Amino acid sequence: MSLAIIVLAAGQGTRMRSARPKVLHKLAGRSILSHVLSTANKLDHKLCMVVHGRIQHHGEIVKSAIKLECPDHDLQWVEQTEQLGTGHAVNTAISAVEIEQKLKKNKTSQILVLYGDVPLIEIKDLEKLINTTKANQVGLLTLNSANPYGLGRIIRDKNNNNIINIIEEKDADSQQKLIQEVNTGIFLLPYPLASDWLKNLKTNNKQHEYYLTDIVQQAVKSKIKINSVTVADQDSYRGINNLYQLSQAERHYQFLYAVKLLESGVNIIDPNRIDIRGNLVCASDVTVDINCVFESEVVIGTNSIIESNCILKNVKIGENVHIKANSILEDSVINNNCIVGPFARIRPKTVLNNNVNIGNFVEIKKSHIDQGTKINHLSYIGDSTIGKNVNIGAGTITCNYDGVNKHQTTIGDNAFVGSNTSLVAPIVIGENSTIGAGSTICKDAPNNKLTLTRGQQTTIDNWQRSK
Ligand code: UD1
Ligand code: MG
Repeated sequence: MSLAIIVLAAGQGTRMRSARPKVLHKLAGRSILSHVLSTANKLDHKLCMVVHGRIQHHGEIVKSAIKLECPDHDLQWVEQTEQLGTGHAVNTAISAVEIEQKLKKNKTSQILVLYGDVPLIEIKDLEKLINTTKANQVGLLTLNSANPYGLGRIIRDKNNNNIINIIEEKDADSQQKLIQEVNTGIFLLPYPLASDWLKNLKTNNKQHEYYLTDIVQQAVKSKIKINSVTVADQDSYRGINNLYQLSQAERHYQFLYAVKLLESGVNIIDPNRIDIRGNLVCASDVTVDINCVFESEVVIGTNSIIESNCILKNVKIGENVHIKANSILEDSVINNNCIVGPFARIRPKTVLNNNVNIGNFVEIKKSHIDQGTKINHLSYIGDSTIGKNVNIGAGTITCNYDGVNKHQTTIGDNAFVGSNTSLVAPIVIGENSTIGAGSTICKDAPNNKLTLTRGQQTTIDNWQRSK
């Protein structure tokens, strides 16, 4: 049996009160729509169509954003020039000539309809729907909710409990509004049977739209069974129609991710205060304190500690590392037993070898720092290669930029750079050398020697402060 998928994403989402198309709003750092597409992509399917709005504005923005986020997805884009309802959107997709031919060629027998604004769908539920719905049945994912407001109510036959209709909130009477079983929006339709039903849809409802949900009545008329699967986690199936619902979906996503980490042995101090906008992979006995943000790909080795308020973007952290509070790390590698922070900033292309200490108010950029080196206070180190067991005193700055070009600083093993030193790059500071505090070093400093620049200290006798 071959499967085609249609994702509905043409609505502007006026309830978001935003110029940005609804499906491009971000959830866990990527668009709502890309979540739906990633899950859809895990299903064995022949064709995945995305229905978007008018190409001139909405459509082009959605298409180009998704091409960046999901570059390896094979998607067929279908334009719905006017948003006349979910039924119209599905019909537009199926009857696009080129797509109709593909559906026929693939001998498609089922079409899965997903909504671009229901991002947290779970693959296990979709698989259950597909596995339990026969080729000549309609499959429907429903959920039971104590707060069904705004969602389509499921109407069942009192005698045999079969689904016979779905009534939208705006069309429901007061009795129907009490029903707690609702439509998630996710349908599995028999093809080509459903194309005939879609063509018969009418707009005789409060919103004057072609409702996809109205095909249920037509299926019942054609004696086609509606097979329903009820999902357990109702919060994952709530559609996002406004920014409040988006914020709820975000917290739900983050909580589920945190619980998964806790269950795998990561000590997340508070699962309600963590944000993962990408993938976080932790070995056992990692501790993550509150209010940390993890972006892109972050890997943390065993026994490492991330204190509160840290932002880690695309970093690899080794074992027994201690990242102290309020540190920001990006595109870098921190090897075993390092200590970073508090209030440290590690910028892209930095590598700290084992046992390096980076202290408070230290900024490191595009630098390689070898084992045992300490940069403990108030320094800027950029475009540098620093050897083993070097001590960089407080307030030391690499002057790496001359206004046009960036230049390299190289510091040999066991060098000792005194506090408040300016190293004017390009420059080489030799192994085992000592640089006197307060120096401005413009020429290379030789190995094993003391180098310093210093004005004479004078004391003026008989001098008096003006009064
Ligand atoms: C829809 C369902 C409702 C269900 C709810 C679940 C219908 C009539 N109602 O209501 O039963 O409980 O979802 O979240 O189907 N879209 C288009 N083209 C259109 C209209 C909509 O592509 O012409 C897209 C939207 O971009 C959105 C999705 O379809 O991604 C759902 O549309 P929306 O207007 O949000 O429907 P709901 O009112 O949420
Ligand atoms: Mg919706």
